[in-house]
Amino acid sequence: MAEKIVQLKKKTLTVNGQDVMVIADEEAILSDVIRKQLGLTGIKVGCRAGQCGVCSVILNGKLVRSCVMKMKRVDNFSTITTIEGIGTPGHLHPLQQAFIKHGTVQCGFCNPGFIVSAKALLDQNTNPTRADVRKWFQVNRNACRCTGYKQIVDAVMDAAKVMRGEMKFEELQYDFAAEKTFIGSYAPRPSGEAKVCGVWNYGADLGLQLPASTLRLALVQAKVSHAKILSIDTAAAEKMPGVEKIVTHKDIKGSNRIFGFACIPGNTCDGYDRPILCDDKVFMYGDAIAIVCADTDEHAKAAAAAVKVELEELPAYMNAADAMAEDAIQIHPGLENVYFEQSTVKGEDTKPIFASAPVVVEGSYHTTRQPHLVLEPDVGFSYYDEEGKLTIHSKSIALYIHIDMICEGLGIPKEELRIVQNPTGGTFGYKISITVEALLAAATMATGKPCYLEFDMEQTITYTGKREVGHVDIKMAADKDGKLQGLEYQHIFDHGAYSEWGDIVLFKGNQFIGAGYDFKNIRGHGKLVCTNHTYGTAFRSYGSPQSLWASECLIDELAEKIGMDPLELRYKNVYRPGATTPTGQEPEVYSLPEQIEWLRPKYQAALKSAKEKSTADKKYGVGIALANYCCGGDFGDMCEVRLELAPHGVTIYSTWQDHGQGSDMGTKTILHEALKPLHISMEQIKMVMNDTGTAPDGGCSAGSRGQLFYGNAMIDASEKLLDAMRKEDGTFRTYDEMVAEGIELAYTGSWASGQYCTMIERETAQCNPSPTYMYGMFMSEVVVDMKTGKATVEKMTMTADNGTIINKLSVDGQMFGSYSQGVGFALTEQYDDLDKHKTLAGCGFPYIMDIPDEMHVEYFENKRELGPYGASGVGELPLSSPHASIANAVNNACGVRIRDLPLLPEKILAGLKK
Ligand code: FES
Ligand code: FES
Repeated sequence: MAEKIVQLKKKTLTVNGQDVMVIADEEAILSDVIRKQLGLTGIKVGCRAGQCGVCSVILNGKLVRSCVMKMKRVDNFSTITTIEGIGTPGHLHPLQQAFIKHGTVQCGFCNPGFIVSAKALLDQNTNPTRADVRKWFQVNRNACRCTGYKQIVDAVMDAAKVMRGEMKFEELQYDFAAEKTFIGSYAPRPSGEAKVCGVWNYGADLGLQLPASTLRLALVQAKVSHAKILSIDTAAAEKMPGVEKIVTHKDIKGSNRIFGFACIPGNTCDGYDRPILCDDKVFMYGDAIAIVCADTDEHAKAAAAAVKVELEELPAYMNAADAMAEDAIQIHPGLENVYFEQSTVKGEDTKPIFASAPVVVEGSYHTTRQPHLVLEPDVGFSYYDEEGKLTIHSKSIALYIHIDMICEGLGIPKEELRIVQNPTGGTFGYKISITVEALLAAATMATGKPCYLEFDMEQTITYTGKREVGHVDIKMAADKDGKLQGLEYQHIFDHGAYSEWGDIVLFKGNQFIGAGYDFKNIRGHGKLVCTNHTYGTAFRSYGSPQSLWASECLIDELAEKIGMDPLELRYKNVYRPGATTPTGQEPEVYSLPEQIEWLRPKYQAALKSAKEKSTADKKYGVGIALANYCCGGDFGDMCEVRLELAPHGVTIYSTWQDHGQGSDMGTKTILHEALKPLHISMEQIKMVMNDTGTAPDGGCSAGSRGQLFYGNAMIDASEKLLDAMRKEDGTFRTYDEMVAEGIELAYTGSWASGQYCTMIERETAQCNPSPTYMYGMFMSEVVVDMKTGKATVEKMTMTADNGTIINKLSVDGQMFGSYSQGVGFALTEQYDDLDKHKTLAGCGFPYIMDIPDEMHVEYFENKRELGPYGASGVGELPLSSPHASIANAVNNACGVRIRDLPLLPEKILAGLKK
């Protein structure tokens, strides 16, 4: 008899109404059995810890999170309902149709779990109130990072009406045939049906479909934050069962460095500071040291644990102050820990202005390292394609840029590298950075075989980049009537272990501290600091939340000092003709005054209501903040797409990468409009998206550039195609006529912003970095529990000028979702303590009861001259300053001014005690 036997148990389960025989290990996890053994990948797996609900199923009539349910707790003859048992494409349940209608579908990763959860609720209560629905999702830990939850509750309420017979199912459907134009419409996105049915296959779902020969990868990762590597011993691990190869830095053919895009003159880092696999040093916790390639996940993990790494620990500088201390050693030998500095010099010298100004205020403001908290763990796979190209599938939102970042390090010509974006469960910016791509490529190059790498949630949180910590010492001068006279600041961004995209974020400090106001005279200085904490990367509104946190809170402090209403102080000073941005650029529209005028009566009513509602135990308050962000890669940027006439209509080849923001809907809407003379329907537009093997280089999906750049490039391609199809009499050739006449069918469209931008002046930071901007105002209404110090946001009202709205459903989703991330940033989210902040809940993930159910956005659609149909960008404006409006509201409620995020109850309580 074998030394160790494997025992399995046979059960009969009724899964989605069908009796099936299941033979499984009693210790196996239900979600794994459903996904891997039963092949039902509709339910997803995120946290594996019962904290996100994406794995929800109904077991014997009860909602359960299947990732924490062992098979031994699933009795013989149990019934299980997964998303596949609720509705399928073409046969949607009212919940699924309502989820589509209300725009709950963004990345879609949470949708199956929410729908299963809502089904369990409606099975026991057909007439829930909004409060019931919110409580249900809170108790059952259904988490969504994209939407802001409001739309999900809207959807459940409508579905319940349909199920009670009070609403027709058809009222949930969108009538595409009734629309002549989709610009500004509530048309749902093309991926909606697949997402609500669980058949939108993300990386882990695709991973289950790969050939059996695919190697499974496990990483050997650093458990310290700073160390010298003395040796890496793989000998014993290599002999372990199933191990094909252990890849270390010695196996990497190229320079073993990821190029981190050093973009701005003056940056003393060349951008080659991040290893693919650590060679001499460990720079941060989680750094990858070796990759085990094996036949199963279990074998790969077991061997990874057996790799011996000998380290000499070095002092770990976990914040900027420590890394800047005089006795601090260089983290990257040869590079100062402060490796980039940028001043702002605008207008007159501010020293005499501050010396004589009637009113001066100052403060030190600090933001936390914000985690992205995506629900889909980072994941990818790699293989050689049919042409022999090394092909990587990942969550990349910068496909061509990622080729540039890793080809040299891997030692492969960029023409031989292809990157594809898998359907992606949220990135919010972190996937502008390299995560699994170079590791997968290195493994496939070393083995010649397909390779698959899936992070768990802890790896996703600790290995991927974060919003960098910002520290701003800021000072404002004004006259006694509140007219701003001058601005001074020093800002420091802790960009963590690697320089990737760091000079850009430091510049954002110069671009956005004091943005929105007519500051004619500014003196500022920023420092970018390397530390041993997790590296900084893009996160919605990159660099602006740290900047506006300082200036939008200090504006309130100024108003308080003068005795002026903070809204009126803003009204007096916001951009009007003649004003320029902190970098000296003329705004392309001046819509802030009209936005404030719209907001004023609501603000006054909210203040009155807060005063009336406040008691000794509960204080209510209202806070305002100005929102501002730019669109496009800084100092000039470009985009290409290819459009082809086809028998079915047209095919668009594009890399408008989708994090969940809805580039599929943006693509179809803009093309439908641009090709109107052809009278083609939405269905006739086919999309081949996000594959460098098929689409030209469109640039990244970051910096709120997608709509502007891809939109304009698609219009350009459409015009070229229409010109080619146009006959002398003004009518258009058919596809057959084009072929018969031998006329080219495919056209490349492009758009570049270089002619509208200027490069940064090294000494002053003066420049026109971006072709368009977005402007808005936040009003947050909060309540503070005076006993516990807990602040809760009860209502959000926002005004926003994003130019023309291309798709209202998607834009609303971006606004509410971003605001919710701002609530988290303001009140709960942290990533600092490497022992505590490793799970979604540990990082302060905002659940439904943390987010207000009352949210409204009022749009001011000032057409942008450069935008497609007048559109600007969307997704980053609403995370530029919501946290400042919340802090201002807390101060308004209880008189406690917190300058250090997040506003934890203990900080507010300490302020109250003072
Ligand atoms: S609760 Fe199961 S994956 Fe998060
Ligand atoms: S749509 Fe909910 S997590 Fe993305």
